[in-house]
Amino acid sequence: MEIRLKVNGRSYVFDVPPRMLLAHLLRDRLGIRSVRIGCDTGHCGACTVLLNGEPVKSCNVFAFMADGGEVVTLEGLNDRLAAALKRAFVEEHALQCGYCTSGMIVSLYGLLKDGRQTSEGEIRRAIRGNLCRCTGYTSIVRAAVRAQRYVSS
Ligand code: FES
Ligand code: FES
Repeated sequence: MEIRLKVNGRSYVFDVPPRMLLAHLLRDRLGIRSVRIGCDTGHCGACTVLLNGEPVKSCNVFAFMADGGEVVTLEGLNDRLAAALKRAFVEEHALQCGYCTSGMIVSLYGLLKDGRQTSEGEIRRAIRGNLCRCTGYTSIVRAAVRAQRYVSS
């Protein structure tokens, strides 16, 4: 089936099988490597992207369901908030192996993009679907708090 999709600002037309997952479309057809396949079952969050502005696990979405929509992956996040998150992740040592990091940043971007001041509890809730085997989450939460401070100063 034919679908139209905007990905990181570029428009595409794809012919996709009905059961193709958005995660596989992004990785296999477009070569977008920040979309990681950790589980393929909606549990780890490594494949998180923004779909029409909201974080979704792209292995939970059939490609045809995104028809007409707009997808943004970590590669497409280039504004002040994205820069603040990336800087804060480094400064707070919020990544080790890095496997979860792109999904984490996309989920946090989805939370913080409106510029509203958020609590630590909200930050923890925003990443509750993103698993990290390495960091214990505390440094990731600190990074989100720090990034929020950067964009509001
Ligand atoms: S690969 Fe999508 S949630 Fe794990
Ligand atoms: S940094 Fe390794 S899984 Fe999160």
